[in-house]
Amino acid sequence: MLNIAIAGLGTVGAGVVRLLQTNGELIAARAGQPINIKAISARDKGKKRDCDLSGIVWVDDVRKLAEMPGVDAVVELIGGADGIARELAEVTLKKGRSYITANKALIAAYGRALARLAEQNKAQLLFEASVAGGIPVIKALREGLAGNRIRAARGILNGTCNYILSRMREAKISFAEALAEAQAKGYAEADPAGDIDGHDTANKLAILTALAYGVEPDLTAMSIAGIRPVTPADIQAAEEIDCRIKLLGLVEESDGGIAQQVSPCLVPKSSLLAQTEGVMNAVLLRGDFVGDLALQGRGAGAEPTASAVVADIIDLARGLSIPAFGVKAAQLKKARFSRHVPARRMYLRVPAVDKSGALVDIAAALRTGGVTVEKLLPPEALVLGKTDPAVLSRAVAKLGAVFMMPIMD
Ligand code: HSE
Repeated sequence: MLNIAIAGLGTVGAGVVRLLQTNGELIAARAGQPINIKAISARDKGKKRDCDLSGIVWVDDVRKLAEMPGVDAVVELIGGADGIARELAEVTLKKGRSYITANKALIAAYGRALARLAEQNKAQLLFEASVAGGIPVIKALREGLAGNRIRAARGILNGTCNYILSRMREAKISFAEALAEAQAKGYAEADPAGDIDGHDTANKLAILTALAYGVEPDLTAMSIAGIRPVTPADIQAAEEIDCRIKLLGLVEESDGGIAQQVSPCLVPKSSLLAQTEGVMNAVLLRGDFVGDLALQGRGAGAEPTASAVVADIIDLARGLSIPAFGVKAAQLKKARFSRHVPARRMYLRVPAVDKSGALVDIAAALRTGGVTVEKLLPPEALVLGKTDPAVLSRAVAKLGAVFMMPIMD
């Protein structure tokens, strides 16, 4: 029997309990042994939860879970890079017990140190649920594509942002209304700023980059923009050129290094990314031998995330032992990150332009600055040809607080 302790009983924690109970027999058969939830700890014991906790020991101090006799693994569903989650991870791994988590902020910030701790103490660090909810993208990169050199990855990695952008387009509602809906459905983080400002996507992208390129997760070399500035007018303008707006995490080889970027982007309406709507996530991977690969599924919410957590629990019970990032922690390299984001066609919105005449003047000025203008999207947006980001920044410097989005092929 594999004994686990669960730390955190929010949406995902309750989902994990429910899944282990609902599919207990099937999971035991696949795991080769029954999974027993020995103990649980959360902030509020009295809170009504959508799962059956009878027969499970309740522990008030979450730190105690790491040291409880007989516990093989701690499943942490609390979140946050620092504070209790980090402390719990360190104590658990030092005790030689495995640590399973959905905590992308923790893994993006301290993944390498925790992976090293796991190796030193013959424990496993598993985090399938940390990226793209129910999509097994970590397994895909670490195991299924292990023979490939990964050339690029791009994806919709945040269900909340995707839900907001989809609802703004479909229901013609404001950003604030769509955000309130996402929160009511339990998709958003406790502080939704992490979702809408792109930091949640950045954490997930740093983890994918580490797995794809065998480098330390690193958030410092990444350009990060969120969806707060996206207006209904941008969504309408995107429609006019047969595109939809999606918040993407992108990593690719550029200029001899690795370029990581989080940005709202225009994607062609006919693409898989455009058709990934609501809370769905999608990840596109390009390997040198496998070619292009697409994964799509629910990226947030209790059930899909629980599905990923339980997959890790089953791996542990099966005795699977794979380095957390696919290579030993000591072999994870410091990446040579490129700050040079590749040239792409761009969408540009210029503030306070309400006459297409003014837009014509701006287009002329941009052309003089070396930027090709493909199309005007009155009243205040333009489509630019493939543009070197440095040239573009110089050309728009005089235009005030412009809003730009890459247009993907
Ligand atoms: N807030 C996250 C999202 C939850 O919306 O994708 C899953 O990581």
